[in-house]
Amino acid sequence: MGASAMAVASVSSPSDIDISTFSTYDIRLEVAGSSCDKYPAKQHARRVAAQLGVSHGLIYLVGQPTVYLDDSDQTRPFRQRRYFYYLSGVDEADCYLTYDIGSDLLTLYVPDFDLHRAIWMGPTITVKQAQERYDVDRARYYACLKGDIDRWAAANNQNYPIYILHDSQAPTDNPPTLWLDTTQLMPAMNTCRGVKDKHEIELIRRANEISGLAHKDVLQGIHKMVNETEIEATFLDTCVSHDAKNQAYEIIAASGANAATLHYSKNNEPLKGRQLVCLDAGAEWNCYASDVTRTFPLQGRWPSAEARNTYRIVEKMQEECIRRIKKGVRYLDLHVLAHVIAIEGLLELGILKGGSVEEIRQSGASRVFFPHGLGHHVGLEVHDVSGESLMAIADDEQAKYSSVLVPTTSRSPCTLSAPTLEEGMVVTVEPGLYFSRLALDNARQQPLAKYINFEEAEKYIPVGGVRIEDDILVTADGYENLTTAPKGEEMLEIIRKGEMVVGVEM
Ligand code: GLY
Ligand code: MN
Repeated sequence: MGASAMAVASVSSPSDIDISTFSTYDIRLEVAGSSCDKYPAKQHARRVAAQLGVSHGLIYLVGQPTVYLDDSDQTRPFRQRRYFYYLSGVDEADCYLTYDIGSDLLTLYVPDFDLHRAIWMGPTITVKQAQERYDVDRARYYACLKGDIDRWAAANNQNYPIYILHDSQAPTDNPPTLWLDTTQLMPAMNTCRGVKDKHEIELIRRANEISGLAHKDVLQGIHKMVNETEIEATFLDTCVSHDAKNQAYEIIAASGANAATLHYSKNNEPLKGRQLVCLDAGAEWNCYASDVTRTFPLQGRWPSAEARNTYRIVEKMQEECIRRIKKGVRYLDLHVLAHVIAIEGLLELGILKGGSVEEIRQSGASRVFFPHGLGHHVGLEVHDVSGESLMAIADDEQAKYSSVLVPTTSRSPCTLSAPTLEEGMVVTVEPGLYFSRLALDNARQQPLAKYINFEEAEKYIPVGGVRIEDDILVTADGYENLTTAPKGEEMLEIIRKGEMVVGVEM
């Protein structure tokens, strides 16, 4: 709550607060025993139970244990298991969780006190602290876990299963005769996680705000950087300084032709002579991801007609797709639209040729330049889970869509009623165009080669690639763009201003 005093208001008796004693104050509402500013673990547990469609059973989840590096006394960097976090809000090692669906009882188990560990690493959380900090009905020490499960099983397990995510996460200390269900929990949780509640949206928004600041700091300083390493370092500096210690994924700071490698991560080449930088980097906030890509020149103007033209096409692909986002829209149709706009733009540039937009789309030629999906869900994972893939197609749609689909992004056979966007989903819209020598050489051998002017495409190799990526919340009547990083003209202006600041200093 920072430096401000805090008044905790009971909803039924607001008159209890004497606000005159506070120069500044925050009001925290407490409703039915669960505080609004806690991560809503209990709501999530109830949603998952409803999705399972059962009124009895025990959900059992194992948090990420402390793991040592191979042949070392150093621990692996801790990353909480996302399914565990969703039902607990706990970002600490060696915890467990049960949710008794019948009695609506969410229990967090925290590590037993360990003097040696406390002296070296600081004490682990107590049950009292856990109870205060997290939205659980009760917190208990690990020592109680085996007995609690034994008692639950003796009373219930004949009729109702214990739901777990994997065989490998079965209770280890209890008898092997427990009735476990390993098939239903993960799909139920995936469906719930695909649609975010207000609390989750605020976490993604905060992650985006920090990423926005970090992207801006890179833009301001890019004119004086000489190596990709400095781009990564500047981005990290801003994120960590804002208490966002983890990145949602490995930073991609790709200059020039490196941008044609979609997940380039070496980030250590000189910038001299490079036309553009593609920076795909997003901070994580309380385990929630942001996923943001900006592509920009080293100075505040386009270095070549090729760079500017490529940027303009991708900008249009993104703007037209974002504009159409609302609930009920099929995301796959936006992916197809992005291909159509790419084909129109590449025809105008003379990189594609010799056919109608539809003929070229059917040939797969646009996939040579736009080889990935338009986007994905964002949440606890940067590529977040959901009930169904955004790109899912039914069996009989193969012919219609296969030319623009990447095999790994569309799970088929899938559903007869293709998934559409729902209010509360957060998805990226990240079109890109790339000029990869590998992809072009491969394309020369294929029938689609007749639609590509390779001589013209070669001129774009130094551009590397352009990707622009924002995180979009689907709302009741449209969308909200959660990404605050500057792009387009505003982005160029920031680079120019950065150059001028140096001029003043000199
Ligand atoms: N930002 C990396 C990706 O979406 O794959
Ligand atoms: Mn992405």
